[in-house]
Amino acid sequence: MSRKPLIAGNWKMNTTPQEGAELARGLRSLLLDGPAVDVAVFPPFLGIASVVDTLKATDIVVGGQDLHAQTGGAYTGNISGPMLKAAGCGMALVGHSERRAYEKESGEMLAAKVRAALAAGLTPIFCCGETLEQRDAGQALDVVRQQLAEGIGALTGTELQRVVIAYEPVWAIGTGRVASPEQAQEVHAAIRAWVGLNWDAGAARAMRILYGGSVKPANVRGIMSEPDIDGALVGGASLKADSFAAIVRYQESA
Ligand code: PGA
Repeated sequence: MSRKPLIAGNWKMNTTPQEGAELARGLRSLLLDGPAVDVAVFPPFLGIASVVDTLKATDIVVGGQDLHAQTGGAYTGNISGPMLKAAGCGMALVGHSERRAYEKESGEMLAAKVRAALAAGLTPIFCCGETLEQRDAGQALDVVRQQLAEGIGALTGTELQRVVIAYEPVWAIGTGRVASPEQAQEVHAAIRAWVGLNWDAGAARAMRILYGGSVKPANVRGIMSEPDIDGALVGGASLKADSFAAIVRYQESA
């Protein structure tokens, strides 16, 4: 089974709605001919409406950077899965390391968010990854497997088919320090093996596993050449239309 690559841009807390629409217009024109990979962008909540509108005639999917586990109610400041869906989103990030660290999101909460995304008809991109301290202590694979078990371990095989996993070593996010393709591949292979062990070989083969952490036009080809890396979750380099488009078109820059 061949897995279609997915290149996703996480804009984080950057871009006003106007700036987001401008960035989306840039992507629309640079990716006019329909790229060979799936493409998604994750604007801040406020920018979703203008970005969805700008990209409506394209195949680029828009997603939320987070969602609340509940569908609605007295949760001041939060946004639910059904709200994202109604706004035109197709995906949601769950468990980004910045939310784990700054918003203290627990494994239990993330499992509820994955379920909320699925229930709303959104594809969750479930993020996992170790800190530098954990890597140096030789714990990278254990940490990642633990995060996966907490976040998606209880899903049925049918639910799992709708999930994308993103491996993002915390020490490589926004630091300019990218994992080597071999370092990333080792973890991706372990994630795929974990999926095989907990569900079956078919689920493991079908699972899309993205790499994230300082992906740039200059390093994306090396990363994407690894057999178990099926795409990228891009932060900083997704904020400029030309660099994100260059990453999307990595197959063309031989
Ligand atoms: P970065 O961010 O590409 O700026 O390192 C990646 C991410 O956090 O998703």
